[in-house]
Amino acid sequence: MIKIGIIGAGRIAQVHARSVSAHPDATLVVISDPIEQAAASLAARYGARFTVSADDVLSDPEVDAVIICSPTPFHPEQILAAVKAGKPVLCEKPVAMDIETVDQLEKDLEGLNPVVMIGFNRRFDPSFQKIHELAANGTVGKVEQVTIISRDPAAPPVEYIASSGGIFKDMTIHDFDTARYFLGDVVSVVAIGQNLDPALKDSGDFDGAIVTLANAEGATATITNSRHCASGYDQRLEVFGDRATVNADNVRPTTVRVSTSDLTDAQDPYLDFFLARYEQAYTNELSEFLSAIAEGREPSPTIEDGRKALIIAEAAEKSARTGTIITL
Ligand SMILES: NC(=O)c1ccc[n+]([C@@H]2O[C@H](COP(=O)([O-])OP(=O)(O)OC[C@H]3O[C@@H](n4cnc5c(N)ncnc54)[C@H](O)[C@@H]3O)[C@@H](O)[C@H]2O)c1
Repeated sequence: MIKIGIIGAGRIAQVHARSVSAHPDATLVVISDPIEQAAASLAARYGARFTVSADDVLSDPEVDAVIICSPTPFHPEQILAAVKAGKPVLCEKPVAMDIETVDQLEKDLEGLNPVVMIGFNRRFDPSFQKIHELAANGTVGKVEQVTIISRDPAAPPVEYIASSGGIFKDMTIHDFDTARYFLGDVVSVVAIGQNLDPALKDSGDFDGAIVTLANAEGATATITNSRHCASGYDQRLEVFGDRATVNADNVRPTTVRVSTSDLTDAQDPYLDFFLARYEQAYTNELSEFLSAIAEGREPSPTIEDGRKALIIAEAAEKSARTGTIITL
């Protein structure tokens, strides 16, 4: 049984607290958040202790490993502090706000035998994993084009966007990692940003984007993002190869279809946002983290995966702002 401390008690912490509590190999011990009420109410839900200090979690002798769910700017210092305290870390994406900080973190971690996993949960989605298996076992043939559609049901608060690093580092970063999962390293990036949502007009950020990436062999990934979507959380993936095309469609709570005189083939709405849609993926991600700890090996995705996704995010931002193709 691995005893877990969670740092941060916001939206994603609620997902991890639930996964840890339900996992047969983990126990939730303590949760920290500078907002005491946030830490206290999440801890109470799962019978854990709470504190306002992340340092309390890191120095807690009962804690075997930590999950970092704080806002992105705190990730690097908390990863380093956890590693120095001898605790394996699962840290939410992105690793940091910029590449220079990740480079410094990697230097600071040298020689400390870090056990650090980055929370690219979509690699653990059963449908995306099945497509990956079909690509790896030759069913798809040579992968030529990857198409990713990822639209959120509604934009987060403007205050969240202000400290998120922008759409490419905050949202598209998942899709950059998915693209790398299928294409490997990327050599060129071209992006168009959109600013169409009146609520985010003055945020200084894009609220939609189209990004195309290419690897050295010329295989491409095209990503379509929006911060809002009237039909709900829209998460689709297609991989096109010279032997097959494979798709993962949106997930609904049931497969029931209703046809009436007004409407045919009407179905339930898509599963609501990341907590529900990727519930199994978060559990599988946690299982990988716990197995790596138990087996004394490095978990995956790594900080290096986080760094490479962030490099693509910075290139996409530059491309969208300058109207140019960025070569990496
Ligand atoms: N993998 C995913 O699907 C996913 C989904 C959402 C968010 N995230 C990532 O998770 C992180 C948190 O996002 P969120 O949506 O939960 O944000 P949030 O704003 O809902 O929650 C963040 C919490 O951290 C607390 N906090 C602030 N400073 C802290 C500190 N120094 N130490 C500990 N806690 C601190 C805040 O009080 C807040 O309760 C971000 O890096 C985000 O990119 C990942």
